[in-house]
Amino acid sequence: MRISVIGSGYVGLITAAGFAENGHTVICVDVLQEKINAINKKKSPIYEKGLDEILKRVVGKNLTATTDLRKAVMGTDMTFLCVGTPSNGDGSVDLKYVKKASEDIGRVLKEKRGYHVVVVKSTVIPGTTEDVVIPVLERNSGRKVGRDFGVAMNPEFLREGVAIEDFMNPDRIVIGASDKKAGDFVESVYHGFSSPILRTDIKTAEMIKYASNAFLATKISFINEIGNICKKLGIDVYDVAKGIGLDHRISPHFLRAGIGFGGSCFPKDVKALVYKAREIKETPAILNSVLEVNKKQPLKILDIAKKKAGKLKGKRVAVLGLAFKAETDDMRESPAIAIVNELVRKGAKVAAYDPKATENAKAIFGDKIKYARSATEALRGSELALIVTDWIEFKNLNFKEMKKKVVVDGRKAINEDTLPNDVEYEGVCW
Ligand code: UGA
Repeated sequence: MRISVIGSGYVGLITAAGFAENGHTVICVDVLQEKINAINKKKSPIYEKGLDEILKRVVGKNLTATTDLRKAVMGTDMTFLCVGTPSNGDGSVDLKYVKKASEDIGRVLKEKRGYHVVVVKSTVIPGTTEDVVIPVLERNSGRKVGRDFGVAMNPEFLREGVAIEDFMNPDRIVIGASDKKAGDFVESVYHGFSSPILRTDIKTAEMIKYASNAFLATKISFINEIGNICKKLGIDVYDVAKGIGLDHRISPHFLRAGIGFGGSCFPKDVKALVYKAREIKETPAILNSVLEVNKKQPLKILDIAKKKAGKLKGKRVAVLGLAFKAETDDMRESPAIAIVNELVRKGAKVAAYDPKATENAKAIFGDKIKYARSATEALRGSELALIVTDWIEFKNLNFKEMKKKVVVDGRKAINEDTLPNDVEYEGVCW
């Protein structure tokens, strides 16, 4: 199949690389020339494990990148819409990129011959594809969906850090389509995947994406709330999570308590669903609580730190980990933001270290904090260490050079069993 992918951000690039790796002919499109140049030079513009290796194999063979959307759509049979859907601040989704791309694709479809399917992969609130994308496509192409071209919604469930693996071996593939022909067309590009394929209508596919992320976010806030109760009762919530996770109806996944969820998806998607629910006069009580628990959770690490180490003012504090999770350089909605800002507000002297996210962190904190080149450098002379991201390299840290060896772990990242006796260790929920 000849596929064009509009938007070479995280989702677009993984999708393009994944389809190319599976033998399809793929053209990536983006408005940013530097991104296109990087891809054509076989260099991924984002950090994602395994992506550079795939680009090395496919670029110049069956994957190319261009800023020319018209050429890309004209030369392909299926177009994946993978543009960003940022938040408007009030929780609602900003559809400007979706609308613009739909207009551009629509104009090309006006002159294109042969069957074409437009597949929305961007995360959009239920109703968006039918109420916004299809009308824009029809208006700009002068053609009719279902008769002249097809539209489908195919949500992504990729996790940063393991996105290639998730693309190649998904738990499920969801295809919501305007009509059977369009759905069959999309299903054919997933030929060879052994995952279950679920065919739905378009709105349902959109909702499956939101409900999945909202459910996972709920699981995290739930275990964090249980963790906060456990902490006061002297119970390790990780033992409790093990106990409940053995029930196959609960499952052991997404029960890692700590300082809460971040990233570009969970916070934004839950807020967007809350916004939509309110708009249609529903009160999303559970989703509201999920967000409330998550807002307070990062600062729990500072409550515990204050109890253990006293006042933060003037204290040198090592913050280990800044990314919203390990194996990524992504700082978006990272719990580290609230923690570092509060430390700075309280007058602490912060030395932060992250194996990958330092450059992105500099754009957020500027010169308000110091950036160490290693965990050891951050720890040197510190009176308190806060573990914010569960990077593997933090498992067996050496705290020898700390001035006072007080360590508060927000992610159960440290191997407690190997800690020397002179380290005072405390977990957020254990
Ligand atoms: C998430 C979903 O897992 C993907 O399925 C989805 O495709 C993606 O959002 C998206 O909508 O694009 P991602 O944001 O990459 O993926 O990260 P996760 O691995 O899900 O972690 C999200 C946050 O939850 C992180 O801050 C992580 O530290 C936290 N988390 C996760 C916990 O605090 N506890 C857990 O048990 C699991």
